[in-house]
Amino acid sequence: AKSTLSLHDGTKIPALGLGTWKAEPSIVKEAVATAIEVDCAAIYGNERAVGEGISEGLKRAGISREDLFVTSKLWNTEHSSERILPACEQSIHDLGVKYLDLYLMHWPIAFKPGTRDVDDEIEVWETWEAMQMLKHEELVKSLGVSNFTRDQLQTLLEETDDKPSVNQVELHPYLPQPELAAFARENSIHLSAYSPLGTGVNSRETLPVLIEDPFIYTIARKHEKTPAQILIRWSIQSGFSSLPKSVTPQRIKENAQVFDFELDAEDMATIARLNTGNKFVTPDWKRTDGLTRSESEA
Ligand code: A2P
Repeated sequence: AKSTLSLHDGTKIPALGLGTWKAEPSIVKEAVATAIEVDCAAIYGNERAVGEGISEGLKRAGISREDLFVTSKLWNTEHSSERILPACEQSIHDLGVKYLDLYLMHWPIAFKPGTRDVDDEIEVWETWEAMQMLKHEELVKSLGVSNFTRDQLQTLLEETDDKPSVNQVELHPYLPQPELAAFARENSIHLSAYSPLGTGVNSRETLPVLIEDPFIYTIARKHEKTPAQILIRWSIQSGFSSLPKSVTPQRIKENAQVFDFELDAEDMATIARLNTGNKFVTPDWKRTDGLTRSESEA
């Protein structure tokens, strides 16, 4: 597996990034400074702290902004065409950068501004088309979506001519989403894996903890690696970029040590049998048409 992956728009995305969801502003600065790539979103409420981490990290590593890949996301309340540009500008400002490498529609659903009430008037494809101006304004290099199912992606492709470069979704051995992965591959849409560790030990009590799975543990022993490293390596070898979230510098370093070993065919086959469909990030808001969406902002 290579450490960067190509997008259909001609740009490249790092195979490994740092997720910042649920990362407290007070500690995320150090975490970001430790890492090399950041994935964030306005709704996480920590973009200013992430921005401080970016400038601190660039200084420490002696690298420039161009060496970094920064992703942010358009929150559900900002879907109407006149709100998109200011929302993106706010994120850029808070992050202290001049442009974003990637900007994603956070969820395929619109909320009325300032609420969590679903706004059925705004179609997802309208928002997606309006987002294209961000590229023309050179505020973002690439555009994508997040939390889209296979069918939602297909609808988007049918309704518009602008194909997302990326779909960032929950992906891990318990939820490998083979149909979505096949559809994305056929359409040259790159998949980024969030919660590649199954959200760590913080996952819901009723579900088995992926990072403690005995099969993952056995593979980890075999390669003298940690379960987290096996899970991250699995996403990368599956062709996904991997976004393990951590605010712990030691773990951030551990999670980056995934380019010095390879899972063999037997390991991949073992992991392929772990598909239980367990989703750790689950819906609680509903549209009037009965479709459910996510409970948390992921
Ligand atoms: P923390 O941020 O306190 O380091 P996911 O990316 O799948 O959502 O998982 C994130 C969770 O996994 C966080 O609770 C994070 O804790 C934890 N985590 C991140 N890296 C590791 C690791 N290498 N070993 C164990 N837990 C980890």
